[in-house]
Formats: sequence, C-alpha cells, structure tokens
Amino acid sequence: MKIGIIGSGNIGGTLGRHWAKAGHEVMFSSRNPEQLQLMAAEAGAKTGTVEETAAFADVILLAIPFGKVPDVAKQMGRLERKIIIDATNPYPQRDGDVAQQVIDDESQTATGFVASQFPGTQTVKAFNSIYFKVLAEQAFLEGADRIAVQICGDDTQAKQTVKHLIEEIGFATQDLGNLSSGRLFEPDAPLYNKNLKISEAETLLKQLV
Ligand SMILES: NC(=O)c1ccc[n+]([C@@H]2O[C@H](COP(=O)([O-])OP(=O)(O)OC[C@H]3O[C@@H](n4cnc5c(N)ncnc54)[C@H](OP(=O)(O)O)[C@@H]3O)[C@@H](O)[C@H]2O)c1
Repeated sequence: MKIGIIGSGNIGGTLGRHWAKAGHEVMFSSRNPEQLQLMAAEAGAKTGTVEETAAFADVILLAIPFGKVPDVAKQMGRLERKIIIDATNPYPQRDGDVAQQVIDDESQTATGFVASQFPGTQTVKAFNSIYFKVLAEQAFLEGADRIAVQICGDDTQAKQTVKHLIEEIGFATQDLGNLSSGRLFEPDAPLYNKNLKISEAETLLKQLV
C-alpha cells in the first residue's frame, strides 16, 4: 500500500517507520522535506511536500495540529476515493477557535469536522488516543499483549483497511462504530489516552455503554 504521512512528527514519524518496516511504500511529508531525509533513509521511505505526498498515497495519515487541518486540506487538493486516517485532536490552547467551536458544537465530532474538509474521501478516526511513546515502544506485539487502538468511521471497507494497518504493526483494533462514536475517544473522554491492553479496553467500554 502507498501510505502518505502528513505531519511527520511524534505520531506521523512513528507510524511511518512502523508501516515501512511492515513492507509498505511510505512517503513522509514536511514543509521542509529535506529535514526528513535521514529519518526516511533509515526507514526505507521517501520524502515529499504535502502536495506530493497527497498525490502519491492511497492512504493518508493526518498527524498535524488540528487547527491547521482546513489550510492543509486545501493544499492537498482533490483526493477522491483515498482513505484519510485522522489522528488529530482539538486542543483550543494550541489550535484556537476552530478547536473550541468543534468542542462546543454538540452536533459535530472532531473527526466529523476533519472529514468535512476532505470531500470524496473516506475518513477513519484512529491513533488519536494512543500516546506516541506507547506507539513507538509497544509495537509488533502479539495476542493479548497488544495495546488497543480505537477506531471509528462510516465506511466499512475503509475501516477494514485501517484495521489491517493497525494489526500488522502489532496493535489491536477496538472498533467503536461510525464517526459519531468518536466522542468516546476525543480528549477528556473515557477511552482517551488510556493505552490499555485490548481486553482491558473492552472491559472499560462495556462499563460505558
Ligand atoms: N503526541 C501524541 O502522543 C499524540 C497522540 C495522539 C494524537 N496526537 C495528535 O496528532 C497530531 C500530531 O501530534 P504530534 O505529537 O505528532 O505533533 P508534532 O510532533 O508536533 O508533529 C506535527 C507535525 O505537523 C507538521 N505541521 C505543523 N504545522 C503544519 C502545517 N501548517 N502544514 C503542514 N504540516 C504541519 C509539522 O511538520 P513540519 O514542521 O515538518 O512541516 C510536524 O512535524 C496532533 O493533532 C496531536 O494532537 C498526538
């Protein structure tokens, strides 16, 4: 699979390295792609601009500050039929009014807002609720030891693709349903940043519903 990483920092850099190790073609993007060359070379990946990475990829990981999403979405151009994995989180202190408005609007989830910026794509929320050090250090585990990665999305096939990408780097998918379920693992929600093993995460979920 061709995977484009938009925002190659803590989350994007870690996931890009894992997916390259799992055998995927990965392109890391940056506003300064030359600064990523060492990381990309070590991972066996390419580097590119945001535009080049969006054009290259079938699956695009969005791992930038939430407040930058509208501008970056415009920069990425037309992306019909691609899958967007939204790992972003709205933090008003970092992301400003756009984050506060999404938090205050009970009819909108954070990833619902992100999805609205990418018409014609399938957006799946994933990796927003796992700490990047856990993502880095507890990858490629098996069975009951695996850490849960919560996901939700409205398109079954896109979710299946993302589930595969989660499981092949040694995490366990906890599928919470459609995009409206995203509230369960947005900042301050019960499943946010718990970094639990899959059985513990399923037990916690049962207590919530
Ligand atoms: N840290 C965590 O444990 C964690 C966990 C789950 C989810 N998240 C969420 O994931 C997202 C990324 O977090 P992070 O910790 O990985 O952040 P980070 O290390 O600061 O990386 C963010 C990346 O976004 C890029 N970026 C910033 N502004 C941009 C713009 N205007 N256009 C294009 N790229 C831009 C930067 O790349 P360049 O400077 O190279 O262009 C940077 O490498 C955030 O929404 C965060 O809330 C974080």
